[in-house]
Amino acid sequence: MVTKAVFKCSSERLGQLPKDNLHDIAFIGRSNVGKSSLINMLTQQKGLAKVSSQPGKTRLINHFLINNSWYLVDLPGYGYARTSKTMRSGFAKIITDYTYRCERLFFLFVLVDVRLEPQRIDLEFIESLGEHGVPFGIIFTKCDKLSASQVERNMTAYRQRLSEQWEELPPMFASSSEKRSGRDEILAFVDKILKSSDATADEI
Ligand code: GTP
Ligand code: MG
Repeated sequence: MVTKAVFKCSSERLGQLPKDNLHDIAFIGRSNVGKSSLINMLTQQKGLAKVSSQPGKTRLINHFLINNSWYLVDLPGYGYARTSKTMRSGFAKIITDYTYRCERLFFLFVLVDVRLEPQRIDLEFIESLGEHGVPFGIIFTKCDKLSASQVERNMTAYRQRLSEQWEELPPMFASSSEKRSGRDEILAFVDKILKSSDATADEI
């Protein structure tokens, strides 16, 4: 459950991130896929993360403190050609620094537009997460734009595509920020993984 959500800080470098030892649950994906909208939907606060129909809206790493105990993290999108040279050639440094090297990152949700065939940039990014050992799941966004059966079909196709490379598939969720669907499943999952980390900490 999210009972309290407050903006904590925006960072352009890892050195500016919060200094506490709370866990980050972060959201990443192509520009315009719906990361900021999903964060607003999960926290039920419309204007918390800035949403725009123009891709490239989120430029910084934004931390939102949830229930005084963990952070939802809104990341800049990748794959938006007009933002900068580094983006064009792949992923912005701020994204790779945070994703591959930041110890705060506890779990990463990769957001994918449910309407599209698997995109090369997403598949490459997902593969790189495997290489760096980053725990991640996939959230399919904008499910309101398709029928339930088409959503199911596209998610199955995605699973099949990932099975070519992965023995074990990551957890996957269907969502719509418009219809507010997927919220309970995603938050229950987050609760579960955070609790399991508490249990590990207690055992030590
Ligand atoms: P960047 O910060 O630019 O990387 O984008 P973002 O991934 O944060 O996307 P954002 O949440 O700003 O949403 C982009 C556009 O998609 C906006 O016009 C949203 O209204 C729209 N959108 C986001 N989620 C949904 C959804 O679930 N359904 C529909 N129909 N539209 C959505
Ligand atoms: Mg955004």
